Amino acid sequence: MATAPRQPTKTDQLKEHLYRLISNQLRPGDKLPTERDLAEAFGVSRLTVRRAIDRLESDRLVFRVQGAGTFVSERPITKTIDFTSFTEDMHSRGLAPGSRLLDAVEVPAGARIGFALSISPADPVARIRRVRMADNTPMCLETSHVPLALAPGLLDLPLDGSLYALMESQYRIRPERADQTIRATVLEPEEAELLQTMPLSPALLVERTAFDQRGRAIEVAKSLYRGDRYSYQIAIERA
Ligand code: GLP
Repeated sequence: MATAPRQPTKTDQLKEHLYRLISNQLRPGDKLPTERDLAEAFGVSRLTVRRAIDRLESDRLVFRVQGAGTFVSERPITKTIDFTSFTEDMHSRGLAPGSRLLDAVEVPAGARIGFALSISPADPVARIRRVRMADNTPMCLETSHVPLALAPGLLDLPLDGSLYALMESQYRIRPERADQTIRATVLEPEEAELLQTMPLSPALLVERTAFDQRGRAIEVAKSLYRGDRYSYQIAIERA
């Protein structure tokens, strides 16, 4: 027997109202009205207000600062499972992409990366480490390995923009698809410092082997995304 739909509670209604306020009128960092003001304005108890805010907080739409109030969170970045570059991801969200190059060196591929790139462990690869930014905020720490046989001289080119755009314009390598795994991890102190967040904060580790239009493995990369700013969205359908 079908059950009757649950009537929205006062907490549901207030949460909905605050959700609209956050989406339409407030900006990240703005302060929400106080619990007392909300309780008065809606004719509900402060407990109801607190419950509604608890739910917004667990949806990560707001955060509380002891003694100061409740504030609107930065907009989380939802990544779809489409094959994109970091630069494309940021542009599609209206954010300015940026890169801080940490180092770029030639190293032997080694067994694991060599295997993924179908080259010998002694073959040289460019190892490029970058902090990726969105509107100047560090979002992701990225280490890419690119076979130098496919991209000779890569390390002499400016590496502060889009790596994929550079590979396409300079070497006619068009990254087109990837094998990718995503798992949860925590940030080591050095990683947290580079991402300007707390040590041991949660992060998403994305490991990618990318292939070009000719099916050649052209990059093995590890990207560490801040867990408080990223989520992945996957469309699924019944097989
Ligand atoms: C994503 C991928 C990386 C890739 C990067 C290229 O972040 N996870 O493997 O290196 O895109 O982005 P861009 O072309 O902006 O350097």
